[in-house]
Amino acid sequence: MKIIRCKDYDEMSAIAGKLMVDQVKQKPDSILGLATGSTPIGMYKKMIEAYQNGEVSFKDVHTFNLDEYYKIEKTNDQSYYYFMNENLFSHIDIDKNNIDIPNGQADDYQAECERYEKAMADSAGIDIQVLGVGVNGHIGFNEPEENLYEKTHLTALTQSTIEANSRFFASIDLVPTSALTMGMGSIMKAKKILVLISGKSKHDVVTKILGDRMTTQTPVTLLKGHQDVTVIIDDEAYNG
Ligand code: F6R
Repeated sequence: MKIIRCKDYDEMSAIAGKLMVDQVKQKPDSILGLATGSTPIGMYKKMIEAYQNGEVSFKDVHTFNLDEYYKIEKTNDQSYYYFMNENLFSHIDIDKNNIDIPNGQADDYQAECERYEKAMADSAGIDIQVLGVGVNGHIGFNEPEENLYEKTHLTALTQSTIEANSRFFASIDLVPTSALTMGMGSIMKAKKILVLISGKSKHDVVTKILGDRMTTQTPVTLLKGHQDVTVIIDDEAYNG
């Protein structure tokens, strides 16, 4: 794992934004794996700025998102579909046909998981997968468990994730309790992985990433088995 330490959220976002823009400049038809949550928002702002300055075009880029709540309507302002449009897609020149996100309103979730996994398998493969990390070490919504799933699947969110995500909802009762998420195998197939970690609440997770153990109880530690992972960590997350 390559660890990059930085001062704060803004510096993390600037470094990550540059890495993503450089990826697309080098390979205009890159396949990007994207995440939601508060962590990548600053990085998306940097990508939008680079597009607006004429530095980069996203017109040939394809994207796959890590996850989506289940069930949720696309029009719900808490859906990840909505989030991605608000925070990135509606501000850049990406072809809307090139965007894929697990469909949180599919009636048949199993068929949707199979469709999503097949769409990734039929593509040329994700060039770079962006990840935030949960306070419990989850990536995507692969929550700490004895056994983790390989492929895209329906999962129940843990109480700690529901509590962490309740900050975005009017009340905790409105937080969906399930999600469709890429599995660990889907994530590990990405050619490169970029993990962003900011803030004190992630310090315990950072300690585990920097330690020498890999455990399904802290899913992000399994990334130690991938050969091209960059982790950007700000001072609050590093020092606690
Ligand atoms: C989001 C996702 C989650 C978040 C994680 C951290 O698509 O898959 O794993 O990355 O919950 O969330 P934030 O960034 O809000 O701390």
